[in-house]
Parts: sequence; C-alpha cells; structure tokens
Amino acid sequence: MLKKKVEDALIEQIQLEEESSRVYMAMASWCESNGFPGAAQFLYKHSDEERMHQLKLIHYVNDRGGHALLKPLADPGNQYKSLKDVFDQVLKHELHVTASINALYDLTTREKDFTTGQFLQWYIMEQIEEESLVNGILDKMNLAGDNKGGIFFIDKELAALGAAPEAT
Ligand code: FEO
Repeated sequence: MLKKKVEDALIEQIQLEEESSRVYMAMASWCESNGFPGAAQFLYKHSDEERMHQLKLIHYVNDRGGHALLKPLADPGNQYKSLKDVFDQVLKHELHVTASINALYDLTTREKDFTTGQFLQWYIMEQIEEESLVNGILDKMNLAGDNKGGIFFIDKELAALGAAPEAT
C-alpha cells in the first residue's frame, strides 16, 4: 500500500507527464503548420512517449492499491518564435521534469518506500537520455544558426528520429 504522501506526489508526476505530452503535441502542431515536417514528426512521437510515461505511472499507483487521479492541465502555450525556440523550450521542460523526478525519488527515500524508489529508476535513466538527445539537437541548431540549408537538414534528421522505433 502506498503512503498518502507518496501517492499524492506520484499523482502530481502523472499530471506533469500528461502536461508534457500536451506541450509536445502543441509544439508538433506549430512545426507542422510552419514548414518543419520532420520536427513535427519527432515531436508527435515524443508526445506519444510522454503519454506512455503517464500510463506507466497510472498503472503503478493503481497496482499498489492507490487511485491514479487525473488533474487539470495548464495551457500548453502554442506560440514559438522559431524552430530553435521550440527546442529551447523542450530542454527547459525536460529539465523541469528531471527536477520533479529527482524530488519524487528523494521523497521515496525519506519515506523509506524503496519499491517506488526502484520503480523510479527507469524514469531517472529516461531523463538522462532525453536531456542528452535534446542537447544534441540544440548543438546542431546552434551550429546552423540562421542558415536555412542547415535548418532544412536538421529537419530531415528529426524526421528520421521521429520515424525510428522507440528503444524502451
Ligand atoms: Fe516523461 Fe520527457 O519526461
């Protein structure tokens, strides 16, 4: 049985993962309507992955005798200055998710809920992968700067990443 404190924190994480899915969906839609089909494909896939992160948490809470509640979601934003701005915001968002996972893990340690701590290991590793992936994309964007050919090439690469099967 989950302690109430841990259950509440997991429910907040469920909300954040659902919000992430929505934020990336909004970004994908912006990319699709602004001539970046590859980035759109990448972000639609990323949005699906966040929904899977949400679902995994829901099953965990319910399997441990809790009740995974869904909470209201924030406005996803919808407007971006450029493709680089989109990915700057992806990184900012992922750093926020990482901080939240780390705080959740810290809570499980304080509450001596080692099972949930073990369950969260997957999320800790996933955040390392996601941050590194987005940092790599931003490095390329910084190199390309305002070069339209460079951005076109990056968009093609993102299409390939968006088409690749999920590793996890
Ligand atoms: Fe589920 Fe990208 O954090």
